[in-house]
Amino acid sequence: MAGEAVKTLWLLHGVNLDMLGRRDPAHYGLLTLPELEAYVVARAAARGFTARCHHTNHEGEFVEQIHEIVRDGADAVIVNPGAWTHYSYAIRDALEMVEAPIAEVHLSAVEGREEWRRRSVIAELAAVRVSGKGREGYGEAVDALADLIALRERS
Ligand code: DQA
Repeated sequence: MAGEAVKTLWLLHGVNLDMLGRRDPAHYGLLTLPELEAYVVARAAARGFTARCHHTNHEGEFVEQIHEIVRDGADAVIVNPGAWTHYSYAIRDALEMVEAPIAEVHLSAVEGREEWRRRSVIAELAAVRVSGKGREGYGEAVDALADLIALRERS
């Protein structure tokens, strides 16, 4: 990464994701949120990003965090809004203002679970979508975003 400016990657977690480690391990694994964040920070650093992490259980706060990203700018965003994924048009509208490429990540394989989890109201805003791969899915998202940015920079 010598000579390249450090890029900012935001990692946004929504409702109930602070309870990782206590939620059904068959879907969500055993990692806690701080452990997952540390993993993403390290994976992001390896691709030249400084990762900044945010979690909230409050939808309005989540929206305001996205507004901050819109105002201050960022190079990439990874978002796992939890259940908000499936119905929050407020979060969708906020994410629509983000200029940086967005990766939507889910720990569990949402497409194979209950009907209501199969719908994502943010899907069409995401340049990258990964689900069902646990923490590795976040690493995959970091790599895909880094590759996408590198490609855009070259063209
Ligand atoms: C989740 C999947 C959602 O359906 C669920 O509501 C979550 C977590 C996931 O990471 O698999 O809270 O986003």
